[in-house]
Amino acid sequence: TQQTITIIPGDGIGPSIIDSCIKVLDKAGCDFNYEFSDAGLTAFKKSGDLVPEETLTLIEKNKICLKGPLTTPVGEGFTSINVTLRKKFQLYANLRPVTSFKGTRARYDNIDILTIRENTEGMYSGLGQTVSADGETAEAMSLITREGAERIVEFAYQTAIKEGRKKVTAVHKANILKSTSGLFLKVAREVASRYPEIESTEMIVDNCCMQLVMNPEQFDVIVTTNLFGDILSDLCAGLVGGLGMAPGANIGKDCAIFEAVHGSAPDIAGKNLANPTSVILAAIQMLEYMGMDDKATLIRDAIADVIETGDRTTRDLGGEHGTTDFTEALLERL
Ligand code: NAI
Ligand code: MG
Repeated sequence: TQQTITIIPGDGIGPSIIDSCIKVLDKAGCDFNYEFSDAGLTAFKKSGDLVPEETLTLIEKNKICLKGPLTTPVGEGFTSINVTLRKKFQLYANLRPVTSFKGTRARYDNIDILTIRENTEGMYSGLGQTVSADGETAEAMSLITREGAERIVEFAYQTAIKEGRKKVTAVHKANILKSTSGLFLKVAREVASRYPEIESTEMIVDNCCMQLVMNPEQFDVIVTTNLFGDILSDLCAGLVGGLGMAPGANIGKDCAIFEAVHGSAPDIAGKNLANPTSVILAAIQMLEYMGMDDKATLIRDAIADVIETGDRTTRDLGGEHGTTDFTEALLERL
């Protein structure tokens, strides 16, 4: 039967990169059925709701969703939509791979790092956010549970085995954040002891930032808590040519949402400048999740060839072309 996928075009550059992505999937012969739905600012303007109920229903029904970036209005009363979706569907694992493609302006050409970010707890638990009446003191709660930590670290090792990876690095700040990061590290060590065939290392997050910039080749899989994973994955994107090259998969037990790591990029929205590779790589993660590895490889090869030959690449890649020309170059190869 034909697979139906929920599509959320999103805000800013979202609709244009999602449009490019769907053209690529169709040209590659994926034969999906798409159901479109709104979230973010686009939804808010139409319905007064950042995440309309029908969007949630659709995600739940189809189980697989491909989404563009969403703008969360800054200010009181607006909870991040992404945080809402990740909590609602218990999308506890956020997989953010970065891989070097020849022909980008990146500083390195041999990067292959998979950051696995815990996606529901930690500093982004959303709990205990208060500001005192006089506005002088603000608080938020960081929550780590044994269950949550064990689930994500297990997931990291299982993924390492499945992908033939050799090493897992647990990134933490247990020297200062004794309780929360301490529990995460303790559990990470326990899980590591169950996987003698994988090399296990650990690293404090600030050192990890320096190591990623100086000597990124040492990393394979990184597993870490929510906030650190958010920041480290943007850093990793910078190693392979920027946010236009960085996809992410949010995986739960029943549902999965695939998206780019970056946001709605208001500075370039509506100008035909966005690099759609991020969301196309997310679609490749989706194809692999669905067991459609042949289509995933087909599309990845097309991306690699367009970027390596510099045929109609976007500005962030050093080219002079826009989203639509870049997409055309991909479609020709498919
Ligand atoms: P951003 O990720 O949207 O942009 C950062 C920089 O990277 C900008 O200079 C932008 O032009 C560039 N960039 C991003 N994607 C690109 C692409 N595909 N091609 C070429 N250049 C690209 O971060 P910013 O500006 O901090 O956030 C903007 C909005 O996005 C905010 O409202 C934020 O809440 C939201 N956001 C949403 C996310 C999501 O839906 N997953 C993730 C991160 C931010
Ligand atoms: Mg982020």
